[in-house]
This record gives sequence, structure tokens and C-alpha cells, in this order.
Amino acid sequence: MSAPTENTAPPAAVNLAPNGKPKIIGFVCEWSLGRNDDIHEDGTVKGMDHIKTLKIPCSGFVKTEWVTVAFENGAQGVFVLGCPLGDCHFNEGNFIINERLEQHVGRLTNRKILDDKGRVAELYLGATENGEFFGQLEDFTKYIAELPPLVVQAKKPRVAPAKKEA
Ligand code: FES
Repeated sequence: MSAPTENTAPPAAVNLAPNGKPKIIGFVCEWSLGRNDDIHEDGTVKGMDHIKTLKIPCSGFVKTEWVTVAFENGAQGVFVLGCPLGDCHFNEGNFIINERLEQHVGRLTNRKILDDKGRVAELYLGATENGEFFGQLEDFTKYIAELPPLVVQAKKPRVAPAKKEA
């Protein structure tokens, strides 16, 4: 039996949430909508159980490596939510992640790790744009649901195995 390769279709439902929708991970600036009531304490977006979020102090704090790790852990789509461009509390965090993501997603697609650049979304919304937040996540979910299932194998162990005692 051959080893699984990148983008091999997973068994049905492996990468679907219990609500039957593709698993999505979001990194959410706490100054943006993350501080509002749209997200449960456990990080799940209200009414969208397939979307889990992690709060961060600013979108500029997101490491592009985290996006890769999210895909390695079964995410079918990843988004970063930051404050509106030009309105970052740390001045340029959202511009920085905007540039970094563009480069990173380009690398992932060039290396055939990702099949579609649209699997990574950037949202830049203010604290009062709740309707827009849910609308964009619904659109993103629909887009991801139409793509084939994605499996990304981890390139290397993230944690070194413990050494055996002599
Ligand atoms: Fe929200 Fe920087 S503080 S994107």
C-alpha cells in the first residue's frame, strides 16, 4: 500500500465538522469582531459550528506557519480577520499580514500543497460590521464546500520525539 500523498482525498467526513460543513479555522484580531458576541468562548463562531477561531492581539501577529499547520490539521479553509486596513491599533499589522499571506499562499499553491488560493481568506472588518462578518463567512464556507476535499501532510514532526533514557 502506498503512503498517502498531499491532496489525497480523505475518507468521507474526515474534514467535515459535525454540521456537515468543511472545517474552517480563523485567526481573529481581538480588536476587530473578536471582542463582540459573535464568537463563543471556545472559539466557535455562533451558528457556524464548523468555524473555530483563535483570538490574537492583532492580525499582524499571525505567523504564516500557523496557516500551514491549520491545513495540516484538517482545515479546508483558513481566514484571518483584522481591523479595517488603515485602522490597525498597531499601525500596520493588517498591511503586514496582507503582504505575508499573499506571498505564503503563493508558495503553498506553487508547491501544490494548496489546490486553490481561495482556501485562504482575509477579512478586514470593524467592530460594528457583524452582518458583514457572517455574510463573508457564509460566502467563504460555500466557496470551500465546492472544492474537493484537501489533505495536507505535515512535512516534518512539529515536536521532537522524547529521548529514551539509557
Ligand atoms: Fe486589529 Fe491590528 S489591531 S489588525
